[in-house]
Amino acid sequence: MTADTVDRPRAIDRFRSRQSGHPSGLIGRIFGRAMVKSTADANDRALALLDLTTPRAVLEVGFGQGRTAEILLDAGHHVLGIDPSPTMVAQATRRNRHACRDGRATLRRGDGTTIPFPDDSADLAFSVHTVYFMPDPAATFTDIARVLRPGGTLAIAGRTSDQPLPAWMDPDIYRIPTADHLASMLTAAGYDPIDHHVIDRGDHTLHLFAAHLADASRPT
Ligand SMILES: C[S@@+](CC[C@H](N)C(=O)[O-])C[C@H]1O[C@@H](n2cnc3c(N)ncnc32)[C@H](O)[C@@H]1O
Repeated sequence: MTADTVDRPRAIDRFRSRQSGHPSGLIGRIFGRAMVKSTADANDRALALLDLTTPRAVLEVGFGQGRTAEILLDAGHHVLGIDPSPTMVAQATRRNRHACRDGRATLRRGDGTTIPFPDDSADLAFSVHTVYFMPDPAATFTDIARVLRPGGTLAIAGRTSDQPLPAWMDPDIYRIPTADHLASMLTAAGYDPIDHHVIDRGDHTLHLFAAHLADASRPT
């Protein structure tokens, strides 16, 4: 390898990174199907941070192939979702077609920063392996807080740049914050307290954040 190729992402890595962040077309559908398994544990751990003991309206930001939306719907919850990828919107809508048809799920294409739902329309929210691709995560966290009702919780799961990242992740596409930076963006968006858990998954470290909004009706 010559000196000028050492830090340059390989075309295959850039392609894989781009399809993971913005799945599109036939390859995007294949990536979507692969994600069902590869992101299941992170999604299940994110859901475990939320109080789902009674039926809730749950916002999922970056729902991908719609596997976790399906789990929530099967458990009797209502799902509001956004994803900027038309390929993922189509795949998740197909997977959850009955719930989309009868109004238990609303899965929309978003612009990648704002959340196209009214104020106070969700009890809980979560987003898994998506922060890296948000052009302005702080703005998105602020808009999620607008959509959440007082006392709501946002769960975030994913990698941070505190640990080494796989070589295939193109840093121009995977813009991965440190845990401290992520927590500071959540704080700036109005969440307090923020619980942070670090899970050793063997091949990588998973960071989980449960960011809570104050409940105006509850004395502090
Ligand atoms: C690695 S996939 C994860 C999908 C799903 N959350 C999961 O855990 O299986 C990344 C997802 O984030 C979506 N995405 C990309 N940019 C986004 C943004 N700015 N806001 C929300 N989601 C975004 C992609 O379309 C894709 O569905």
